[in-house]
Amino acid sequence: MEEFGLNIMSNLCTVSFPGSDYPSITLPAHENLSEHLTIQNSPVLFGCRTGICGTCLVEVIGEIPPPELDELEMLNTLAPNIFNARLACQLDLTTNIEIGRLEQ
Ligand code: FES
Repeated sequence: MEEFGLNIMSNLCTVSFPGSDYPSITLPAHENLSEHLTIQNSPVLFGCRTGICGTCLVEVIGEIPPPELDELEMLNTLAPNIFNARLACQLDLTTNIEIGRLEQ
């Protein structure tokens, strides 16, 4: 039972927003940020939520899986010089991350 509890703990990820007044949020791994982050609880804004509009462009610190090809193409257009730019609606939450909003 204890092992089960530890397992659940390790599948929780903390999303924090350094440089902002928003408190961090803890979510189960692989949850889609666009379903949990709102204008009330984060500095991140969403539009399409499908990786097309670029509204959710952010800078991410944390070891998460790299972008898929479609996301990569968007990032090359929107933020070609920012190596850790991501689309918040597309990223796979696998560990604790820090997020900062990027202006387009
Ligand atoms: S909300 Fe449109 S790209 Fe993420």
